[in-house]
Amino acid sequence: MYLYLGSQSKSFLNCCYKDVISLSLRKLSNTMDVLITGGAGYIGSHTIIEILTHTDWNPISVDNFNNSTPKTYDRIKEITGKSIKHYDIDLKNIDRLRVVFEENNIQGIIHFAAHKSVPESVDKPLEYYTNNINSLINVLQLQKDFKVPYFIFSSSCSVYGSTTALPVTENTPIGKTECPYAYTKVVGEQIIIDVAHIEKDLNYIALRYFNPVGAHISGKIGELPNGVPNNLIPFITQTASGIRKELTVFGSDYDTVDGTCVRDYIHVSDIANAHVKALEYLQKETQATNFDVFNLGTGIGVSVLQTIQAFEKSAGKPLNYKLGERRPGDIAKIYANTEKSATILGWKAEKSIDEMMDSAWKWQQNLDNQSL
Ligand code: UD1
Repeated sequence: MYLYLGSQSKSFLNCCYKDVISLSLRKLSNTMDVLITGGAGYIGSHTIIEILTHTDWNPISVDNFNNSTPKTYDRIKEITGKSIKHYDIDLKNIDRLRVVFEENNIQGIIHFAAHKSVPESVDKPLEYYTNNINSLINVLQLQKDFKVPYFIFSSSCSVYGSTTALPVTENTPIGKTECPYAYTKVVGEQIIIDVAHIEKDLNYIALRYFNPVGAHISGKIGELPNGVPNNLIPFITQTASGIRKELTVFGSDYDTVDGTCVRDYIHVSDIANAHVKALEYLQKETQATNFDVFNLGTGIGVSVLQTIQAFEKSAGKPLNYKLGERRPGDIAKIYANTEKSATILGWKAEKSIDEMMDSAWKWQQNLDNQSL
């Protein structure tokens, strides 16, 4: 039996047919386009390298270079031999962002782009809420509009606040957060939970990072904050290389092993690898619920003074530092229980604190020699 279709109905059916094909392709392809927001940034760039090295996926970066540089894309090419497609777009501009979804067959999203400094967020709460929340909402809106099945969110251990239940598991209750940065991650997770509740066909993971540090083993890519660094390791390496006069240790009267804050430092390449594992896990579609959360840490707590000692060992020279006042927004001590990510994602951090310091120092020296 033939069905006569007028030209309008034909084009309507054609359009539906194309949608069906494209939607099923979104689910089936191994060579999927993966949108990386913040791909020129610290963790984003390492994740792109991991993807280019270990998968057939096609990473597409969107970054506005707020805290990064376009040179990162050249460095990714130097390391992997591959160029990636990238856009210079502020995620708060949903109209410009929509074009990225129209021009590509995006099937996975890893949403890194966000402001990330604890002290800066205390000084500029509105900027943090505006940027981190609006960007997330826009990406989620387009994910929903284009039915992108897999979404990974950069969350943080700071959502646990000042908990005394250590090591923290994913079931440790979300605490009273200590700073606006941390609260953007709590709210971000909640927004995703609410969307996931309605969008049953779309799948979401939030990865709670502990303290990502270090650099790619090549020393060609690493953390490159614009201006004075807020985070410990870049401040240490810049002090050692003479860019900063001295490091101030923020607080030496905490109830910890030596009075300084304790964190779970984790190599950035281990963090990057976890994103690949998480996306592969989502692709299998075996998860019991369409939202889940995982800690990404080593499980080992290291104090600021112990970190400095590890760095001095790597650099082979003493670091100029002094003990100072506590920093607003800091919590005393936190480290991860990593069992859930090991069991479900099959992921475990592999690199030691020495490898973290060695690679961070190599990266700093390469920057200093301007060999990059
Ligand atoms: C926080 C989050 C982390 C997130 C990161 C993003 C917590 C527990 N962790 O890290 O998940 O990825 O923000 O930026 O909230 N310090 C000094 N002198 C300095 C700089 C830092 O002593 O000049 C100390 C801090 O007081 C802190 C430690 O070093 O105790 C680490 O600080 P930082 O690198 O800024 O990371 P967090 O704020 O812990």
